[in-house]
Amino acid sequence: MKFFADTAEIDAIRELADAGLLDGVTTNPSLIHKSGRDFMEVTGEICGIVDGPVSAEVVALDHATMMREAEVLRKIADNVCIKVPLTIDGLKTCRALTGEGTMVNVTLCFSANQALLAAKAGATFVSPFVGRHDDNGFDGMDLIRDIRLIYDNYGFGTEILVASVRHVIHVLEAARIGADVMTAPPAVIKSLANHVLTDKGIEGFLADWAKTGQTILK
Ligand code: G3P
Repeated sequence: MKFFADTAEIDAIRELADAGLLDGVTTNPSLIHKSGRDFMEVTGEICGIVDGPVSAEVVALDHATMMREAEVLRKIADNVCIKVPLTIDGLKTCRALTGEGTMVNVTLCFSANQALLAAKAGATFVSPFVGRHDDNGFDGMDLIRDIRLIYDNYGFGTEILVASVRHVIHVLEAARIGADVMTAPPAVIKSLANHVLTDKGIEGFLADWAKTGQTILK
C-alpha cells in the first residue's frame, strides 16, 4: 500500500520523505489555509521533495473553469495530480484531463456508486473519506471494502486512495482490505512506529549495555 502524507507542511513532508515513507502527498484548500502558504509556491516546493503524485485541488464548480484552473496547476510540475470533486462537472473534468495524460484524484467520495462513476470517468485515484464517514455513523471501512470488490469485479484501474484517515486502525484496515493508497496526517504515519514493547525493549537493552561499561564509538 502506498503512503501519501495529507498535509502542506514542508518540514513534516521532508521528514517522512527522508525516512523513505512517502509515495506522494495530498493537499486540499483547508490544508493550504492551515499552512498559511501561497498555494502555487508551496505546491511547487512539495513537488520538488516528493517524486510521486502531489494532489492540488481545483476550487471551481463548473467544468470550464475547473479546466482553466487545472491548466494553471498542472504547469507547476510533472507530478501534480489534479484533484476534482465528485460531481458531474468534476467527472467531466476528470475524463478530459486523464485523456490528456494528466493524473486526476476524484475527491469527496462517500459512496460505492460514486466510486464507480470515478472509475468510469478514468480517474487515476478515487478518495473515499473514511473518517468523515465514521463521524456520520457509517463504517468508513465498509465503504472501502465495497469499492475494492466493485473495482476488482470489473478490473478498473482507478486506485483506491483511503482519505480522511484519523488513526492507525484506519491504516491497518485499509491495508487488510487491499486499498492501493492511504493518505494520512504525518502524525498518524509516524505513530505507526509506536509500540510499548519496542520502548520497553530499548530501555532494557540500554540498561544492560550500561552495565558492560563498553562504548561503540571510541
Ligand atoms: O484526505 C482528506 C482529508 O484531508 C480530510 O480529512 O480529517 O478533515 O476529514 P478530515
